[in-house]
Amino acid sequence: MGLDTAQGDVRRWARGLRAYVEYLRSTGVDGFPRAAGVSRSPERARCEARPEPPAPAVPVATASPASVDLFGAAVAGRARTLEELREAIGDCRRCKLWPGRTHIVFGVGNPRAQLMFVGEGPGRDEDLQGEPFVGRAGQLLTDMITRGMRLRREDVYIANVIKCRPPENRNPEPDEIASCEPFLVRQIEIVRPRVIVALGKFAAQTLLRTHLPISQLRGKWHDYRGIKLMPTLHPAYLLRNPADKRLVWADIQLVMAELGIRR
Ligand code: URA
Repeated sequence: MGLDTAQGDVRRWARGLRAYVEYLRSTGVDGFPRAAGVSRSPERARCEARPEPPAPAVPVATASPASVDLFGAAVAGRARTLEELREAIGDCRRCKLWPGRTHIVFGVGNPRAQLMFVGEGPGRDEDLQGEPFVGRAGQLLTDMITRGMRLRREDVYIANVIKCRPPENRNPEPDEIASCEPFLVRQIEIVRPRVIVALGKFAAQTLLRTHLPISQLRGKWHDYRGIKLMPTLHPAYLLRNPADKRLVWADIQLVMAELGIRR
């Protein structure tokens, strides 16, 4: 590698790092906790014999994602519109899901929607069509929007935590969530909905940075960076447990009341 190439790489990394730090600051993060369980050499331990100040409180990595992807966050933070964000994602190879996907399933709907639904990740139908919630679970979500809330699908915005289909529709893994989450965060920042409905445990736990089960989270308002967030059960779960549709309907009625939607 020539000196020029190496210097160019270092400059690019530095730019990425600076943009990432700015992005973190914009989200209120101003420090990192000391990594747990790191062993230190005796010399190092002697040098650090003074009592440590308390670690700053930071809103990172308490939930499913292992961490937030550094460069993904920097790239996402620069996008001003959904189109720019989609472009920034490009032909993404940031996690191990890319070889198995047909389409990146970015999101769909009104870019100025007051109501945003966030699901888990694309299934087979979504992967083939490149649009979230178009399979059987999607039909149920669409019914909820159109027949339940009397809105059109085009009135709301729909996205997922991860944008590529996991093999055999398995659960998203922490590293996959970490790679993809900056793009969801930016989607939310750009759309700036009044209310987010988190569909199922992965969406709710990822956005709320919690491990609490969906049964404890649903039915109550939570705060996501100043936006009201209502967790509810995932439509795919409802396909298997139709008796619980009444719980989701109760959650949706709270959302409708918040948005002033009357039937
Ligand atoms: N399930 C999800 O969570 N998202 C989709 O887009 C489809 C099914």
